Amino acid sequence: MSTALRTQLIRALTILGSVVLLFVVVVTGWYWKKKLQKYPESTISQAQGEQIFRSAVFENHEAEGVPYWIWRVMPEMFPQSFKPDYAELGFIRVAGRELPLGMNKSRRFGIEWVTHNCALCHAAAYRATEAAEQTVVMGMPNAFFRRQIYVEGLDKAYMSNAFTPDAVLGAIEKHTVLPAAEKPVYREWVGKLRERAIDYKNHVGTTRDWHPLHAPGQAEGFGAAKQYAGVFDETIGTADFPSTFMQRPRVIGHWDGISTSTLERVIGSALAIGAKGSAIDMQQMLDIDKYTMDLKPPPYPLAIDAAKAQRGGGVFQRECANCHAAGGARINTIVPLSEVKTDPHRQKSLNLSFLWRIKLGTLPSNYPFQHWQSSDGYRSDFLEGLFTRGPYLHNGSVPSIRDLLKPPAERPKKFMRGTNVLDAENLGYRSDRAAPGNVFEYDTSREGYSNSGHEYGTALPEAQKDELVEYLKTL
Ligand code: HEC
Ligand code: HEC
Repeated sequence: MSTALRTQLIRALTILGSVVLLFVVVVTGWYWKKKLQKYPESTISQAQGEQIFRSAVFENHEAEGVPYWIWRVMPEMFPQSFKPDYAELGFIRVAGRELPLGMNKSRRFGIEWVTHNCALCHAAAYRATEAAEQTVVMGMPNAFFRRQIYVEGLDKAYMSNAFTPDAVLGAIEKHTVLPAAEKPVYREWVGKLRERAIDYKNHVGTTRDWHPLHAPGQAEGFGAAKQYAGVFDETIGTADFPSTFMQRPRVIGHWDGISTSTLERVIGSALAIGAKGSAIDMQQMLDIDKYTMDLKPPPYPLAIDAAKAQRGGGVFQRECANCHAAGGARINTIVPLSEVKTDPHRQKSLNLSFLWRIKLGTLPSNYPFQHWQSSDGYRSDFLEGLFTRGPYLHNGSVPSIRDLLKPPAERPKKFMRGTNVLDAENLGYRSDRAAPGNVFEYDTSREGYSNSGHEYGTALPEAQKDELVEYLKTL
């Protein structure tokens, strides 16, 4: 083929390619506009919103739910995984409530179930001091919940030879007499849960087994979405549960800033925890969206040195406000990895091909997800309620704000996670071995767990760092 002919051919193909691409974009846009009606805004009060956030039941029984009596007898049947009463899994227990926060009972398929909602990971409790009672806070990340151990423990139990209909019914009947109509349903679900676990192992388990052990308060947030999109890779997408405070000004969301719609974040999250797309209750989604848009953290519960904090405000304005305060030129934007230099794994776990698969793949569904943007870094976030948000950075690799203000080489290389006792001095949770609940040693040398980057403020004089820490308590 002559060079001229080849050039012409390439040009023709390029034009054809562009026309096809343009066509796809236009048709996609049109189809999506038709499909996604403008939903009316929710008008619920914050108090009503909290009620919904705490007690919402999504249609995730089949995908992730546990029949109530099976949930009850698991710790007896598999004490090595669940101890008495699921101790050490970081569930938030509230006086007078049988199930942990974020778990609720509902009836489906003729029996009672336990399913979880947003509050399992996005609500928790801190203790101001070791001796203090816990204070429950909606929207704070449950930095204590060991999701991976819980879910894998259940799956392992379901697949074990000890998990037979007779054994399960026998364990249940030590506590209650099941109505005759429920017995066959329980028997059937013992089999279905085993199938579900095997199916999960065969599909997702291959990547999940490879994944490193998660710290309390972590998950692969996009694991389910990637599965849906048919992306099975070996990247490490582990991230800490973020807070869900004040979503309204968070025009972009998720650690890497890829989401540009608060409502899609809510619907996507419901689907991610197993809710059936066909059964999504749009009013419930809108209500949760409204509630989290305006959800405020409580004020810092310990003493604040006001004069010191005021001086720290000046330091903050100079060193941090541009990226972290309303009105700052770079607040709620994506800061490239090449600039922030924190651990790259979570950012690299989602790419453009994933986003397009979700955009196009959900087009025929009830909820076409269109509000995504590509990302080459991590989001610069608002910093309200910081005392409930430790450990810090997307991978929770820095135990306290004071440590974040040290150069990376001087930050703790290993520290303990799991306690909900505040570290009054350093702003964060206590990270020493003696703090009750500190069950997990976080090792920053592991892949995905690096505490590198974010060197802002690290060269400040010590006195100014002190002032800055004091100021950050006031946000
Ligand atoms: C199993 C724990 C878990 C549950 C349950 C859960 N989430 Fe999340 N959520 C996460 C994780 C992890 C992320 C971070 C994902 C990422 O960016 O890697 C996240 C991110 C979010 C964000 C983005 C916050 C921000 O500022 O960027 C919102 C909003 C959110 N979730 C809302 C919800 C809602 C609403 C529900 C219930 C329908 C829910 N989540 C259920 C773990 C959970
Ligand atoms: C150039 C923009 C930029 C500047 C300036 C900046 N930060 Fe950040 N900050 C970021 C980004 C981006 C992240 C997210 C990094 C990650 O999670 O990997 C972040 C994360 C944080 C976090 C963790 C939040 C969480 O939810 O875990 C804290 C705390 C923080 N910054 C405090 C500060 C302070 C204090 C200063 C000033 C001394 C400062 N930052 C200056 C961009 C900036």
